[in-house]
Amino acid sequence: MLERVETTFRDLLAALQIVKLYGTEHPVFKSYLDKAYASIQDILKEKEEFVVGIVGEELVFEKEIFFDLSKLVRPAIVFLKEKGIERLVFRRAMHEEELSKFLVFLSSKKEDIQKEPQEHLVSIGINNIQVSKLKVIATQQLLLTKDFLESRKLYETSLESINDSVTNVLDLGSLDHAVLKFSLRNIMENLILQHQEFLKLTTLKRYDAETFVHLLNVSILSMFFSSKLGFNKDDIMDIGVAALFHDIGKLYISRKIITKAERLNDEEFAKIKSHPMLGSEILLKYVDSLGILPVVVAFEHHLKYNLKGYPKLSFARKPHTASMIVSLCDVYDALSARRSYKADYSPDMIYNIMIKERGESFDPELVDKFFKAMGVWPIGSILSLSDGRIAVVREENEDDIFSPKVEVIFPEDKKESIDLKENKEQVKIARYLNPWKEGKDYLHLIKPES
Ligand SMILES: [Fe+2]
Ligand SMILES: [Fe+2]
Repeated sequence: MLERVETTFRDLLAALQIVKLYGTEHPVFKSYLDKAYASIQDILKEKEEFVVGIVGEELVFEKEIFFDLSKLVRPAIVFLKEKGIERLVFRRAMHEEELSKFLVFLSSKKEDIQKEPQEHLVSIGINNIQVSKLKVIATQQLLLTKDFLESRKLYETSLESINDSVTNVLDLGSLDHAVLKFSLRNIMENLILQHQEFLKLTTLKRYDAETFVHLLNVSILSMFFSSKLGFNKDDIMDIGVAALFHDIGKLYISRKIITKAERLNDEEFAKIKSHPMLGSEILLKYVDSLGILPVVVAFEHHLKYNLKGYPKLSFARKPHTASMIVSLCDVYDALSARRSYKADYSPDMIYNIMIKERGESFDPELVDKFFKAMGVWPIGSILSLSDGRIAVVREENEDDIFSPKVEVIFPEDKKESIDLKENKEQVKIARYLNPWKEGKDYLHLIKPES
């Protein structure tokens, strides 16, 4: 269901952007409108009404907050908030025509709407989309601890400046290197101070297919990992910057392909494979500000330890250490991210998949060190224990990556901290609970550490 809601948000957003750009007369609009309408109808097959809330500046559906989508639709959210709208209801009886008019309403200027929003909608013939003030949404139930929120804010601002930087490089405009370095330095400093809260963001932030989130996650993971490997601050920063741009070639290609109206052919698909080459070519233009490492990493991040992978080299050689670090973090993040076309992998599955590549894709020593730093069960993972209790991972044991230190959160009268390494006889990990599925009911029990 959540995936369908996300798709719907995205389709609505796309249609909204088209309205703004071309108006409703343009043929492109009709196809986007059809898509958005179909998505909503799809949800309305199971529900009488599809209710969307706005809490703060975030989009909410049931108890789920869609942080990243909120960012994308911010202008629409601001518009709604200005009009005092915090709750949207789409009813099953809604006609496509009503949705079309509603999108026009969303794209209009504040000054152009004189009446009360609901009144205005009715006056233009929209009867099955309702807007109102928010009733009660229990925000306490959401996982919004202070530390988490502060880290999230930094994460969001970083995401924004990263978004800008990457877009600037894509458009071959200027690159504000200072801003970029500033956000990455903040992240690095934060990683050192409270890496637990920060890493949690890379594991929890799953509801977005955005490449920018992937780039930022890989950058954070790479900085964390290289700090664990003992690199100094300057090197950590350089690796973080390189990681940030590793897939820039892909963005360039996908953009060109996305703007094509027709379906992708095999040739275009194969083109995606040229993204390391393309990325390094683009980054070569920025050697003065970014240095040479991003060029190297973009070029090498799909080269494997066993000298396979791509691009094909006439003289195969071992990739640069920074490339191997980024490549590990890249694969780890791609496997952790929940994609609609892929099953959701639990952390132990990810460990097994990656460890199989020990000596193949990855340098054996490096992949071992990676899991020593990350643990098999990352901090913040919700686990069901062999005695039936539910616990959250608080700290890794570097000498026993399978047995972290955990805190029991359920039942609430059985709370305690357990070092699973020291208590192997008594209790074990039974299984992983996905925080968006089975683990969802326990999220509100996770308190920040005192
Ligand atoms: Fe890539
Ligand atoms: Fe990547």
